[in-house]
Amino acid sequence: MERDRHGARQPERFNPERAASLNDRARFDYLPPKDLIPLLDIPSQGVLIDFGTGTGLYAVEIAMLRPDIRVIGVDEQKKMLDLFSENWSRHSLKNLTSCWSKDESYSRIKVTADRILALNVLHELGDEAMEEIKSLLKPSGRVLFVDWNSKIERPVGPPRDHVYSPEEGNTRVLNFGFSVLEKRIFPYHYALSCGVKN
Ligand SMILES: C[S@@+](CC[C@H](N)C(=O)[O-])C[C@H]1O[C@@H](n2cnc3c(N)ncnc32)[C@H](O)[C@@H]1O
Repeated sequence: MERDRHGARQPERFNPERAASLNDRARFDYLPPKDLIPLLDIPSQGVLIDFGTGTGLYAVEIAMLRPDIRVIGVDEQKKMLDLFSENWSRHSLKNLTSCWSKDESYSRIKVTADRILALNVLHELGDEAMEEIKSLLKPSGRVLFVDWNSKIERPVGPPRDHVYSPEEGNTRVLNFGFSVLEKRIFPYHYALSCGVKN
């Protein structure tokens, strides 16, 4: 069944034909994984879900940098997860797995995440998906939303009118019961570290 994308700034699904661009390691120049790790602040032995993992470029890198945690790449498109597996098998990482959000096994990872990374995906998430993110989190869990900044003229990424400004991103997460604990600005991105309001 097609997920409800009502509320998403860019309601079109990510086109897997553009997947190769996700594997460009030049992305690390303007958004280094080592800068995301302190923002994520993942507890040792904790579980990180990379929500909308795509080809898993960042999931693989974080799993390599943090062998003490478990990383689960989640995506709604099986095609993306096939590409994810190719990247992952090349590195044979024991602490990295994937989960297709339309598979029945998905229910088993509900309420298991200490942290969720949602990278370059907030603008694609409809209202239903925003609630779904919360359902994956442990009560004390946190989500790091990192997305393209609509205020910045960029040589890469989606058109500016397909994404949010940092202020609009902030409003979007507040509207779904998140509290913003920390904010960061990167050259092309904004980041919001969020808890869930009780
Ligand atoms: C622009 S790509 C970003 C991929 C990855 N986070 C990265 O930065 O390399 C967005 C990905 O999110 C996935 N996605 C979008 N909405 C989703 C949802 N509701 N649940 C799971 N995955 C989703 C898409 O299928 C796509 O693979």
